[in-house]
Amino acid sequence: MKAVAVFPEAQNVMVVDQAPPRLTEPDDVMLHVLDIGICGTDREICSFEYGSPPPGEDHLVIGHEALAEVVEVGSAVEDLRVGDLVIPTVRRPCPHPQCLSCRSGHQDYCYTGDFTERGIKEAHGYMAEYVVDIERNVVRVPPGLGEIAVLTEPLTIAEKALAQVLWLMQYRPPWLDPATPPAERGNGLSALVLGVGPVGLLGAMTLSVAGFRTFVYSRELPPSPRTDLVGSVGATYASSQQISFSELAEEMGNIDLLYEAVGHSHFALEALQVLGQNGIYILTGVPGLQAFIETDPATTMRNMVLKNQVLLGTVNAGPEAFTAALRDLEEFRTRWPETTDTLIAGRYPPEQAIELIMGRPTGIKSVISFRDGI
Ligand code: BGC
Ligand code: ZN
Repeated sequence: MKAVAVFPEAQNVMVVDQAPPRLTEPDDVMLHVLDIGICGTDREICSFEYGSPPPGEDHLVIGHEALAEVVEVGSAVEDLRVGDLVIPTVRRPCPHPQCLSCRSGHQDYCYTGDFTERGIKEAHGYMAEYVVDIERNVVRVPPGLGEIAVLTEPLTIAEKALAQVLWLMQYRPPWLDPATPPAERGNGLSALVLGVGPVGLLGAMTLSVAGFRTFVYSRELPPSPRTDLVGSVGATYASSQQISFSELAEEMGNIDLLYEAVGHSHFALEALQVLGQNGIYILTGVPGLQAFIETDPATTMRNMVLKNQVLLGTVNAGPEAFTAALRDLEEFRTRWPETTDTLIAGRYPPEQAIELIMGRPTGIKSVISFRDGI
């Protein structure tokens, strides 16, 4: 079968021919991969800046944003059936008995750093025709979502963040009624998303659904397909080439939530200056090395204290976030059917993976596909 693999030592990325995997545990499921989204993390891995092969191997099969079909189940598999569509999660627990998060199935909060991540860190990924995993590591896709379900994993970033924000918002401003349903908790609050890539756009859609008055801020000059998408999901776009942070803050009023999705540290720090009273700042981007800048930490710290602000970084996601993402994908399609369909820029065969990963991103999400006829 075909797989796309990176060879860090030899500094090579290529389509390889491999023997298909086999079921070895009673709770294993065999998956035929249909779609795999590509993202900035794949680009870093294929530039040999991030990621690592399983110990003792010279290559890593990449791909972590997958949609797959169950084609075989082990004897102890309880809930899944052949023909089900599933999304495999990414991170697997570390082996240490003292890691409370991994021992309780919350490896996205792993304390030791010795976790593995499929397609990223010491475990092969999903950009292959067939993969095997245990039942517990996959989440079933509700019927009818197969065309867009490949967006589930990138959407979990917003879902994990939002679950924490809503929890914080429920208990921090003590005047909010804890009985408010999740879908209404953002009502009356404003959110600013930084970045108009897939993570930013999916974040804006999620915040919009949660009731926030949502703005998206990035360099890109409107109009463009991406900035048009912002408008079509009920959010407002502003370009940093046309309006400054402080002008934007004036227009928005108190900025209750900042959602960073660019991975640029200077831009992120600048945004902190406009975070409002009782504001929460979510950081999702992983910046590469960037030039040092002079900054005034005293003012930053003073502001954060005097304004009761929260700074929250978030990475990876657990099964609840995958389930929430699938629920929201359904909601997106109901509210914005045309926009939701255009999020997938195209499906391409694995032979085109390398040029798509390394080239300039076109559209929102490019997808490698092992579906018949692609
Ligand atoms: C993936 C996460 C992963 C992170 C860090 C992201 O691209 O979506 O699952 O934890 O990279 O490796
Ligand atoms: Zn990713």
